[in-house]
Amino acid sequence: MSGSFKEKAKSILKSNDRGGFTVPTSNLYPYQWNWDSAFAALGFATFDRNRAWCELELLFEAQWEDGMLPHIVFRNDDPRYFPGPSFWQSGTTPPTSGHSQPPVTASIVWSLVQSGDHSDLERARKLFPSLLKFHNWFHCARDPDGTGLIGIIHPWESGRDNSPDWDFGMAGIEVADDLGDYKRQDTNFVDAEERPTSDQYDRYLTLIKFGREHNWDQQLITKKGPFLVADPGINFILMRADRDLLQLAGRLGIEDCKETIESWIAKSREACRSLWNPDIECYAARDMRSGQFSEGISSAAMLAFYADAGSEREYEKLARHAEEILQIAKYAFPSWDPRHDRFDSRRYWRGPTWAIMNYMIAEGMAEQGFDDLAARIHQDTLQLIQTSGFCEYFDPITGDGLGGQLFTWTAAILLVLADSSSVK
Ligand code: GLC
Repeated sequence: MSGSFKEKAKSILKSNDRGGFTVPTSNLYPYQWNWDSAFAALGFATFDRNRAWCELELLFEAQWEDGMLPHIVFRNDDPRYFPGPSFWQSGTTPPTSGHSQPPVTASIVWSLVQSGDHSDLERARKLFPSLLKFHNWFHCARDPDGTGLIGIIHPWESGRDNSPDWDFGMAGIEVADDLGDYKRQDTNFVDAEERPTSDQYDRYLTLIKFGREHNWDQQLITKKGPFLVADPGINFILMRADRDLLQLAGRLGIEDCKETIESWIAKSREACRSLWNPDIECYAARDMRSGQFSEGISSAAMLAFYADAGSEREYEKLARHAEEILQIAKYAFPSWDPRHDRFDSRRYWRGPTWAIMNYMIAEGMAEQGFDDLAARIHQDTLQLIQTSGFCEYFDPITGDGLGGQLFTWTAAILLVLADSSSVK
């Protein structure tokens, strides 16, 4: 790779800029995505604070009345992506998708405030009510039993689209017989072997069809929809974000929401106990209707550290799993356990390593005192990007770069890590 490495990362963020918001990568994902934008903001913040805040502010412009922050914002209708606005039919302005994504925004806002000055604090103050409303939406609309355990209504809501964690939930979906002869666009840009299968796409679209036929009534979709799975990723990320939101409220001197946020955290902590699968001695996804557990170790389970969700014993156990997995996977941290029969080193969330997951996992491990593991994950992330480029994801065994290229969040994470290491 020519030129300075950090400069290259900055130039990717700039070239994916579409006027105040970034696309994850051109062609494959030509719109604004929720958690991609949050990570983009983290990257921009290393060299352009104003631009970082714009990214978040524009994202929140698409927030729904009920507080939901959609996973995609469609500011135009681009033939390179399917399913686009006419398939989702959100009925909102701007048009959006009909569910959310991992709520990393509050944590990223808190991080901008911690590293910033008075003007960052004022931008955060303006965003605070929207952040609170977003968290409130998750706790109300996606917690059907009021237990504190959050469910996702579509695998895409987890951000880990085709993880084996959803296989059993997906198998229970009866594919709609009137999806028509739709044409996927993703495989025009990325090798089909590195993407979800057509059978999975039929099910993804069936879920969207259900949502749109029920006018995106979120409570109803959660209670009666064809898919409801408790994802350790979403639960841990939300738990962490609640904690960061609470700290932010404290810094802003906002008192009236304190009790509410504290009760969310306490409830989630308790509820997450039910995600510990004793058979594999690890956190795992769980079908909220049948109670069935997923049977493998995902990278999302490793976010327990980041959430501060576990006991000492559980952290020790997770760390042992991580060490064993990293003896097989040369490049941390595989999205699925390489010892499991569903592991596929090149297929998206069924094996590959993702820089954003690495960032959160390592941050959590370092905070809980597992410094060696955290350091290994940081080093691997840098090495992958340095060797294979700013790819969407990477083969954890060979280190090959996979999926979309010149990827926004990979560039953003490089900038964040570079600030704490010797990358030039
Ligand atoms: C894929 C990923 C998702 C991401 C999106 C845009 O759908 O699974 O997490 O937000 O691409 O990068």
